[in-house]
Amino acid sequence: MSPDDLKTLIRSVPDFPAPGVLFRDITTLIAHGEGLRAAVHHLAARAEGAQAIAGMEARGFIFGAAVAIELGVGFVPVRKPGKLPVPTIGVDYDLEYGTDRLEIDPGAISPGLKVAIVDDLIATGGTALAAAELLRTAGAAVTEALFVIDLPDLGGADRLRASGLSVEALMA
Ligand code: PRP
Ligand code: HPA
Repeated sequence: MSPDDLKTLIRSVPDFPAPGVLFRDITTLIAHGEGLRAAVHHLAARAEGAQAIAGMEARGFIFGAAVAIELGVGFVPVRKPGKLPVPTIGVDYDLEYGTDRLEIDPGAISPGLKVAIVDDLIATGGTALAAAELLRTAGAAVTEALFVIDLPDLGGADRLRASGLSVEALMA
């Protein structure tokens, strides 16, 4: 399936999680076996050369882990707070609707490890910028960020590019 075909598998839900937000929902894409496989395949093709994939909890785990498996590289979970059982490094960040915090185990990163970030969606870019900052603090070389969906009106991809990351999404 092409990225254009995959777009038809995304469900749009008005007023979730807050009035005025049109929520682009991947539940319908990942329920579709061929669509899920194609999305992972398209992302993996763009991540070739990465030595590890980092994905953000929770939806980034679905696509990120699958891409890592397809490439035969490791997966680094970028977690919501209080989940990892070891000393972590963390960063607070703004969301389109609220604030949150991300944490990683710095021991998951060897110096200079070439890491690609994978997530389902980029909106404001706050989540991906926070993840890139954390991974870099731990010593990773983060050069690219890959998404299934970009919401271009929210400017996240531009913010990421301005920070020096290469950004690709399968659809806007
Ligand atoms: C969503 C989405 C991205 C992020 C995008 O995750 O999966 O990670 O928001 O928004 P941003 O570009 O404005 O930062 P959310 O924090 O809702 O968590 P979830 O995956 O657990 O649903
Ligand atoms: N859909 C899914 N996740 C999101 C969105 C959205 O529209 N905005 C921020 N995170």
